[in-house]
Order: sequence, then C-alpha cells, then structure tokens
Amino acid sequence: MHARRALLYMPGDNWKMITKSITLGVDCVCMDMEDGTAINKKAEARTTIAKALQELDFGASEKLARINSVGSGWEKDDIEAVLPHHPDGIVIPKVESFEQVEWASQIIEAAELKYGWQVNSIRVLIGVETAKGILNLKEIAAHPRLDAIIFGGEDFAASIGATRTKDATELLYARQAVVVACAANDLQAIDIVTIDYRDIASLRAEAEFGARLGFSGKQIIHPAQVEPVQTAFTPNAEAIAYAKRIVETFEASQKEGKGAYSLDGKMIDMPLLKNAQKALDRAKAAGK
Ligand code: COA
Ligand code: MG
Repeated sequence: MHARRALLYMPGDNWKMITKSITLGVDCVCMDMEDGTAINKKAEARTTIAKALQELDFGASEKLARINSVGSGWEKDDIEAVLPHHPDGIVIPKVESFEQVEWASQIIEAAELKYGWQVNSIRVLIGVETAKGILNLKEIAAHPRLDAIIFGGEDFAASIGATRTKDATELLYARQAVVVACAANDLQAIDIVTIDYRDIASLRAEAEFGARLGFSGKQIIHPAQVEPVQTAFTPNAEAIAYAKRIVETFEASQKEGKGAYSLDGKMIDMPLLKNAQKALDRAKAAGK
C-alpha cells in the first residue's frame, strides 16, 4: 500500500496550491471538492482537478480527489468529473454506511472497466467523522474496496456537540474506534487535522501522539506541516535499531526453547515481536 503519513488538502479550485503541492514531497495530495471548496466554486473545482490530473506530474505523491458526501447532491457530478482522468484514489467524506461506500465503488469499477484500467487501480479512502459513522464502523470498515479510514476531528466534534480542546480528550474514544476498526481490517488509519498550522511544536506533539495511538498518518492543510508529520509517522533510527534487535534476539530465544526472554532488563515475547515487525514494515513503507 502507498505510504500515507501525510495527506495534504487544498481547495480543488486553487490551481496555485495544487501546483505548489506537487513540489513538497508529500505522500498524498488531496484535491478537495468538499468543505475546503466554497459552494459557488464546486463546478470550478471539478474542472480544475480534471485539468491537474491531465497536465501535472505528481511524482511520487499520490493524487487523490475528495468528492462531496454521498447524499449531498454534488457527489455524482464530482466523481464523474474526475474519474475519466484516473486519480490514484477517491476520498469519500462523512461516510455513515456500507452502502455509501458501495455506491462509489460501483461507479469506480464501471469506469475502470469502461477505460480498460485494472479493477481496483483506483483506491478508495473514506472519512468517518460523525456519530453515525463511528457507530457503524464495524460494517463500513469491512468494505473490500477500502484502503484507509480518515478521522475528521472537527466534523466529529460538531456531530456530537463536543468542544474542541488542545489535548483532544473529547475525540479519544472515536480516534481509538477508528484505529481498532482499521487494524481489524488491515486498513490505514489517518488522524485529525491540526488547524493551528503556525504552531509546529503542537503539531509534532499531536502527530507523535497519533502515531502512538496506532494511526499510520495524519491529515494536513499547509506546506509547513509536511515535514513534521511525515517525520512523526516514520520510525526513527533508534526505534528501527531496537525493532531489529527484538527480531534477531527473538529468533535466537525461540531456538533455545524460550517464548519469553529478557532484553535490556525488559520482558520480550510474541506481542512485542509483532509490534517490532509492524515498526519495520512502517519504516520500509517510508523508504527507510
Ligand atoms: N496546499 C498547497 N499549498 C498551500 C497550501 C496547501 N494546503 N496552503 C498554503 N499553500 C501555499 C500558499 O499558496 C503559499 O504559496 P506561495 O508561497 O507560493 O505564495 C504558501 O503555501 C504559504 O501559505 P500561507 O500564506 O502561509 O497560507 P495562506 O494564508 O495562503 O493559506 C490556509 C492558509 C489555511 C487558508 C491554506 O493553507 C488552505 O487553504 N489550506 C487547505 C484548507 C483545506 O483544504 N481545507 C479542507 C480540508 S480540512
Ligand atoms: Mg470533514
């Protein structure tokens, strides 16, 4: 799966930001037709994104287009405007049911067949960011077309009537619900946006906390957020070295007939091996 440590949004009608985004070395560029785009700019966003998909070289960045939510009335025009130009993936926001993912999947598969592209070559990422979406995660996350679930903190706070705070305790239950649903279905989990984009220290702390919770990446809204977030979701040299030592010593200890053993005064057994292997997988996905 494509590494998605940072997923950068920009309004789909903003050509300048789209052209800037492809110079940033960001894992994912997400051209938005939903809430980042004004209601009177939806049509312009569709044509601008179509043009970008045709004319720009995104390099190693994944090119994503976010449509409006299923039921908004805009979703069909949005998806039809971008699909003929083969984005790498479609992002569906505010998903509340399995059927909403299925709606998009069928349209995408029809396009893949029509244009002779490989089926599943266009990936699907969804936003789960409402009370109903969190309650229905079990069914939604099992949709076979999915790659990732994105948790929208601001939308979720609005949905449940919570007040957003800096430490985001009001979001913890839902963030963990998303991480669990993703882990159970082998999906990537993508964490909240830090909207205070000038405060890089807070961004780093929030990204590191998200990584500790089990998220694989984070949504971002500004170029200054790329490096801190991609760093936070890449295991550092020390973590990689420690994970490698666990893998090596684990094997030796199994040969000696010991399931559990001691390394630097800490008990190591199977769950720690699994976590070490996950860290090495993440490092590999990030090109380390
Ligand atoms: N993607 C690409 N480029 C961006 C960008 C983004 N999300 N946000 C800012 N830039 C560019 C600016 O165009 C500017 O480019 P320049 O130096 O070539 O002129 C540079 O980065 C610095 O931007 P800055 O002046 O600090 O920010 P701003 O005041 O222009 O914009 C926001 C601030 C928040 C309005 C803007 O970052 C934004 O629109 N972000 C995306 C919002 C969004 O999509 N929300 C929906 C999803 S949550
Ligand atoms: Mg949202």
